[in-house]
Amino acid sequence: MDSPTPRQIYLDCDPGVDDSLALGYLVASPLVQLVGVGTVFGNCPADAGARNACDWLSVMGASDVPVAAGARKPSHGEYHGGPKHIHGQRGTGAVQLPESGTTPVAGNAAELLVDLARAHSGDLEVVTVGPLTNIAEALAIEPELPHMIKHLTLMGGAALHPGNISPVTEANIGKDPESARIVFGAPWPMTMVGLDVTMSNTFEEEHRQALLASGSTAGRLLAEVLDFYFDFHLDVYGRRCSALHDPLAAIVAAGGIVPALAPMINVDIDDTRGPGRGQTLCALGGLYRGFPAQDGAHCRVALDIGAPVAPHLVDVLTTLP
Ligand code: BDR
Ligand code: CA
Repeated sequence: MDSPTPRQIYLDCDPGVDDSLALGYLVASPLVQLVGVGTVFGNCPADAGARNACDWLSVMGASDVPVAAGARKPSHGEYHGGPKHIHGQRGTGAVQLPESGTTPVAGNAAELLVDLARAHSGDLEVVTVGPLTNIAEALAIEPELPHMIKHLTLMGGAALHPGNISPVTEANIGKDPESARIVFGAPWPMTMVGLDVTMSNTFEEEHRQALLASGSTAGRLLAEVLDFYFDFHLDVYGRRCSALHDPLAAIVAAGGIVPALAPMINVDIDDTRGPGRGQTLCALGGLYRGFPAQDGAHCRVALDIGAPVAPHLVDVLTTLP
């Protein structure tokens, strides 16, 4: 049987430890052709993230993929630096990546996304694993973008799970709720991979050891970077392991795993200045009735993955050089 045509994917990220796993998965997966990477403020500044993306892509044998630095702050407000206790000083845990000779392209991430959408005429898919500022900026440049993009998959939000930066708000949405509201309001087919599924699918020490023991240089570096991230999660889970936020969005976007439950529902974003700021308001009224169709809904919200994620991630990452 012929293998399926790889999905053409643009990744928007703030690398970031788990962003790096998502990047590695999209480089390594035979289901994907990664055609561009944009970075946004978040886990580290956008320019540092672009440097990290260039260095990671070089280690991963994909330095031909263009990288563009994007938004340096949210659409409304300022950026005060990333959570260094989670992602380390530079977004790579306690590891200094080997410096590549490659540099980000001229132009910003929103421009790169629009250029790629135009060049790939309806075939481009978007994966976002950081704040949605670049995507909202791209929509302002090209209002037809939702009709030019095949699918958008994002790591962000929480439908039924508590938030991780406020009682109700997940970090990627909470860092720029105004942009998130614009992105969720645009009429493209979307899949939201939020804390509902990323917190319950973990990467354990046995999986990290499998990466360390692999013959893959990139796999080993990823495992070393994860060491720092595991320390942060000790307080969260009571053991050294990590949530699989960004890689899970990449896996779902690639079709590596199809979520067992992901109803198509209406989602709005609270962009008020109240205590719910950044909440993903998911219309889950059909939870006990099999989710009857909702007018205008264009977003699937992953509620259950239903398959082991970490072993699949290890299998794919260990094919990296
Ligand atoms: C999200 O926030 C970031 O710290 C992670 O990289 C992930 O994208 C999880 O809430
Ligand atoms: Ca991220």
